[in-house]
Amino acid sequence: MQKLRCAIIGCGRISYKHVEAIINNSEETELTAVCDLIEERAIAKKEQYNEKFPDAKVAVYTDYKEMLDRENIDYVAIATESGYHGEISVVCLNKGVNLIIEKPMAMTLEEIDIINELSDKKNLKVAVSHQNRFNPPIQKLRKAIDEGKFGNIINGTARILWTRDQNYYDMAPWRGTKALDGGTLMNQCIHNIDLLLWMMGSEVVSVKSERGTFLRNIEMEDFGAILLRFANGSIGIIEGSACVYPKNLEETLSIFGETGTAVIGGLAVNEIKTWNFKDENEKADISKDEIDNVYGNGHTPLYKDFIDAVNNDTQPLVTGYEARKPVEVILKSYEDEKRP
Ligand SMILES: NC(=O)c1ccc[n+]([C@@H]2O[C@H](COP(=O)([O-])OP(=O)(O)OC[C@H]3O[C@@H](n4cnc5c(N)ncnc54)[C@H](O)[C@@H]3O)[C@@H](O)[C@H]2O)c1
Repeated sequence: MQKLRCAIIGCGRISYKHVEAIINNSEETELTAVCDLIEERAIAKKEQYNEKFPDAKVAVYTDYKEMLDRENIDYVAIATESGYHGEISVVCLNKGVNLIIEKPMAMTLEEIDIINELSDKKNLKVAVSHQNRFNPPIQKLRKAIDEGKFGNIINGTARILWTRDQNYYDMAPWRGTKALDGGTLMNQCIHNIDLLLWMMGSEVVSVKSERGTFLRNIEMEDFGAILLRFANGSIGIIEGSACVYPKNLEETLSIFGETGTAVIGGLAVNEIKTWNFKDENEKADISKDEIDNVYGNGHTPLYKDFIDAVNNDTQPLVTGYEARKPVEVILKSYEDEKRP
């Protein structure tokens, strides 16, 4: 089978993970082109790829529309500032390419709905980088839920307790802004909100929240708390912080059911902390997923899942419809704050 040709739009901080994922899936895909408004950044990604494949020809662009016109591309990975995901996705879909979009999928539900409708109409695949879904402990947790090991679920808790100092926000002017990034809920905590919603598996019927900007000089929140009620009666609690002193503490997902308790923690939900079940055969028998940063190892299996979906005309694990859900919860949490 012919390798799928990929282009990357947006070659900043997270883009090395995309190049790495393409390299790790090199039997089935290759990097064809890279694009960034800042040419050196695009060249740096071409060089990262050429370290592994010195003879590979990777075209460099500063205008993604020109790239789409000139290159023969099967899919594009969009890793620009979040506020541009929507507009760029629509242009790419209209050009007939499949998409991997960094999280959040887009900043408004209107844009997300347009992307989902357009990709359905054109039968193009869309996957969103909620890569922690592929962490082995998270996959194991999802399997235990599917097998009914928890009985009825009572509550679930998602906590991201990290540090983002003022330097982090000052490094790029878009960070912490309402239009292009959002606060800690939309940027950092969205990963864990996605996991909580995936595990609880019931429609959200109520969203209450409190947010604040405590330590950083930014437009949006650096701490946010959300309380959810699901249609089946269970309750979700979300706590997202960019203010933890002095460094990243944990990203933890806890699920509490009638006959089971699971806590997946570590720096980025990569480690089983508690695994207690009535079913004595249910064992915490997998080792920690070793990670060296909070991005984890999930981009590589996310690409594999997406490539399989394109090749077999199936749906990837994190579709645009799945990725809509955490954005909807976060946007509703903003609305709740307007209450008297
Ligand atoms: N999945 C994860 O764990 C994870 C981690 C970090 C960031 N992200 C997401 O990835 C995205 C990028 O974050 P980042 O920290 O890498 O940002 P960044 O600011 O480091 O990089 C963004 C890049 O996009 C480029 N860009 C903007 N508009 C462009 C255009 N029209 N054409 C080509 N290039 C363009 C910018 O020049 C910049 O180099 C954000 O949506 C962020 O939320 C995801």
